[in-house]
Amino acid sequence: MLRIALFASGNGSNAERIARHFNGHPTLQVALVICNNPSAYVLQRASNLGIPAVVATGAEFTQPGRIASILAAYDIGFIALAGFLKLVPADVVAAFPGRILNIHPALLPRHGGKGMYGSRVHEAVIAAGETESGITIHKVNERYDEGAVVFQARCPVLPGDTAESLAARVHELEYEHFPRVIGEVASTFV
Ligand code: GRF
Repeated sequence: MLRIALFASGNGSNAERIARHFNGHPTLQVALVICNNPSAYVLQRASNLGIPAVVATGAEFTQPGRIASILAAYDIGFIALAGFLKLVPADVVAAFPGRILNIHPALLPRHGGKGMYGSRVHEAVIAAGETESGITIHKVNERYDEGAVVFQARCPVLPGDTAESLAARVHELEYEHFPRVIGEVASTFV
């Protein structure tokens, strides 16, 4: 069984759908949620799903070896960032080569990088006059949103779109594709 950790910082709608997607899967299991925000709703979702969750403070994310030791304690073999707003520690990136995926709610390389998350992304897409947006699923390295692109899906940006209406359309793409792409990539390590 390849045990997957989900890193999340907020609502956790992606994390929940990923966990449900692998429920009963013969070789892949969501075994841990790591969160940097003790009040994040993803922790409630993890509890409802019976998935162990660890809250790690910002300081712990910068403490060499701390996150790696948590991942080892849960025998984690793959990581997916599902709405995670901090950098993955460099030692974790090094310990999981090709085994960490992130989803970004825009078509990288445009509208990505430090500080580009949530409605800020959609506001930037609209402000730039883009006629389409979408999702980018990519391998994670030491810098925000710069790893190799694994998958992209597109949706229109409609006249009159707000950040909220665009976010809802992009979320649907996330839910449709992220669990499947995680399965495709993680299965190569089983
Ligand atoms: C999603 O838009 C995802 O693309 C981005 O962060 C958001 C997380 O939303 N990385 P949720 O916490 O999964 O609801």
